[in-house]
Amino acid sequence: MDEKTVKALIAEAFSARERAYVPYSHFKVGAALLTSDGRIFKGCNIENASYGATNCAERTAFFKAVSEGIVDFSAIAVVGGLDTGITDYAYPCGICRQVMLEFCDRDFRVIVARAEDDYKCFKLSEIIPFGFSSENLEK
Ligand code: THU
Repeated sequence: MDEKTVKALIAEAFSARERAYVPYSHFKVGAALLTSDGRIFKGCNIENASYGATNCAERTAFFKAVSEGIVDFSAIAVVGGLDTGITDYAYPCGICRQVMLEFCDRDFRVIVARAEDDYKCFKLSEIIPFGFSSENLEK
């Protein structure tokens, strides 16, 4: 992925983060999911008084896209931190990594950022090695 695309995706993740509904953790997360045909689906985390009903930003973005019929993806950018500001990279949780594995190739790119020019980029296979996917059900 070229630098310009990465920066644009991170900017969209910051924009998505503004919509985070976080009355309990005050930890705002934004995600921007890039489809293989160049569209972007944004997502934020949406918390609930019954904490387990919370949906992460990454899954919000994925479920928006999949529910619109899109299932081919190339990258996701994630930004997160307390509502006072971003101090560190926010890595996708295990459940979100599993959802990525469901829909993405192993070279799908996961970008975690603190700013548009401060990010790390991983392949999905790096952040969920030895994953369990539909391929395992065929063997
Ligand atoms: N969160 C995400 O949105 N994405 C992740 O991958 C990790 C955690 C959210 C869930 C919850 O609203 C808050 O961050 C604190 O866990």
